[in-house]
Amino acid sequence: MVAVSGTTGEGWSSRSAFILAAIGAAVGLGNIWRFPTLAGESGGGAFVIFYIGCVFLLGLPLVLSEIFIGRVGQTDAVGSIRRVAAQSQASPAWSFFGGVGAIAAFLILSFYSVVAGWVLYYVGVMGGDLLQAIGDGEPFRGALAGESKEMVQGRMGDLFASPGLLLAMHLVFMGATLFIVARGVHAGIEKAATVLMPMFFVLLLGITIYGAIVGDMGETIAFLFTPDWSKLTPTVMNSALGQALFSLSLGVAGLITYGSYIKEGSGLGPTSAMIAIADTSVALIAGLMIFPIVFAVGLDPAAGPTLVFQSLPFAFQSMPAGALIGFLFFLLILVAAITSSISLLEVPTAYGIGEKGWSRGKSAAIFGGGAFVIGIACLLGYNVWSDVRPLSFWPLFADADILDTIDGFTGKIMLPLGALLTSIFVGWKADRNLIRTTTGLSPWAFGLWRFLIAWLCPIAVTIILVTGLFPSLL
Ligand code: PHE
Repeated sequence: MVAVSGTTGEGWSSRSAFILAAIGAAVGLGNIWRFPTLAGESGGGAFVIFYIGCVFLLGLPLVLSEIFIGRVGQTDAVGSIRRVAAQSQASPAWSFFGGVGAIAAFLILSFYSVVAGWVLYYVGVMGGDLLQAIGDGEPFRGALAGESKEMVQGRMGDLFASPGLLLAMHLVFMGATLFIVARGVHAGIEKAATVLMPMFFVLLLGITIYGAIVGDMGETIAFLFTPDWSKLTPTVMNSALGQALFSLSLGVAGLITYGSYIKEGSGLGPTSAMIAIADTSVALIAGLMIFPIVFAVGLDPAAGPTLVFQSLPFAFQSMPAGALIGFLFFLLILVAAITSSISLLEVPTAYGIGEKGWSRGKSAAIFGGGAFVIGIACLLGYNVWSDVRPLSFWPLFADADILDTIDGFTGKIMLPLGALLTSIFVGWKADRNLIRTTTGLSPWAFGLWRFLIAWLCPIAVTIILVTGLFPSLL
């Protein structure tokens, strides 16, 4: 296919560069932090199985749909939807859901950077510990040698009690994100993904294999894969759907934006499947890595957002070379987080470039700066504003602090809404021949995809959204 130049004029250098960047966007804190947190809070198996169903029946068709829009549109999400609409005789008003997506991405970025800041803090803690181990002439000893369970767990509390420290970490992470995005698609985003993602996979597999050999997997497998269907309440289904969308970067126009930098070729079906499979495998592997430790040290799987940070250091304490591996491990979570945060910032940034005519640097600075400020409110919610419950009038968010409220509101409401609008637009409004030629799907794959996107997605997402938000209707 002939290269088409878009409004932003930028593009990936190859198909594999796109795949790596898209996997980089998908694999992040969503897999290693949010998935175990929610699976633990929601009682395990039933949540996990429902989540996997959401990924493949709803998420995968949506991945393909978003990439299709971007591939045709060749510009920011709003402009891309407008172009698909124009080529399909549909109303340009549909483009508003690209704007909603950009707002959701912006809001997610605000708290994402705060949580990534926690990771950064642990990189520092483990790095310091490693240096000390080396200084003691025992570079291969376990992490945090001699510290009691209370001391290891207490580190999280120390961090949360210090707004200055939280702010510094948030600032560094957001600054790095901004720096990469300002450099552009090719020199910034693609470069980061192609260097960092392979590193991430090697270490993830290494640590998991190690854990499987020395750890006790029995209880974890029972917890993660034995469903107790009575736990599958509408609220749990809503979070599982939200998690599937969050993890695949869907509903925020992220893949529309990344798809718009594809200049040539089709074959979008296998590409989409690779993204979904890679992302889901990483989430499950993260679960298999984290829960054995959670159970072994007697932590509560329903501990919430701090679960991962309080459990992992224990594993590294008793592991040979734990100081070294622990340091590398947190470093790699950081890597995964940054390849995702750049995609979150890229959505509104592309919007500013494409729709407002701003320069890349200015657009990235405006949205990155704005998200940084909202993030400050999130981190103050752990200390100075710990009593604040922004949506306390709403039972669904009654207990949620500032960070949890933004996380829950985007995940449970904005992402499903974005997914719903995407599925109706692509399933019913977009020209079918345009979809066929752009995606290169075979006739049977097209038929299956069309059933899922036009029928299953809108119906299932609506039911899950409505019953999740208004459980009293049931
Ligand atoms: N998918 C990313 C993760 O799992 C988060 C993300 C959401 C990134 C939406 C981009 C868009 O960490």
